[in-house]
Amino acid sequence: MYAFTVDTSAKAELYRDLRSALDALTADEPDAVANMANAAALIWQYLPDLNWAGFYRLVGSELVLGPFQGKPACIRIAMGSGVCGTVAATLATQLVDDVHAFPGHIACDADSRSELVVPVVRDGMLIGVLDLDSPIAARFDAADAAGVEALAALLAGRI
Ligand code: SME
Repeated sequence: MYAFTVDTSAKAELYRDLRSALDALTADEPDAVANMANAAALIWQYLPDLNWAGFYRLVGSELVLGPFQGKPACIRIAMGSGVCGTVAATLATQLVDDVHAFPGHIACDADSRSELVVPVVRDGMLIGVLDLDSPIAARFDAADAAGVEALAALLAGRI
């Protein structure tokens, strides 16, 4: 059983605790799927107001669905397509306050209103993206982006 103390009252503390928990969960495990699955579950459990959290992995020249929490989702996303494909093509985080205003947004879950996608990069090479969706518009801010980027940086060596 894994039980973590996570302070959800302030974002900096929340992400610090999440990073520590993720570190503990993945430090001794070499299997990428297991680590992505536990990362998605941890994020899903502790971040409020999400309707989807998970990974798309770079497989060949496209993104393919990885471990996640939420409704079944689109399986393959072309580079440059939608929010995830844009992040994969540019290696830059996307903070989308209103997904309906994002050109080419791919609606996997009609409930999604805002989205945060960060690249997972190791040694300058794209491994995949970590995608969080919320049913609330403008759910994510710069503190969320920085916090989730820190989680992705930790995971990059472990998936
Ligand atoms: N909305 C994403 C697709 C993935 S789902 O949100 C899980 C996009 O536009 O890339």
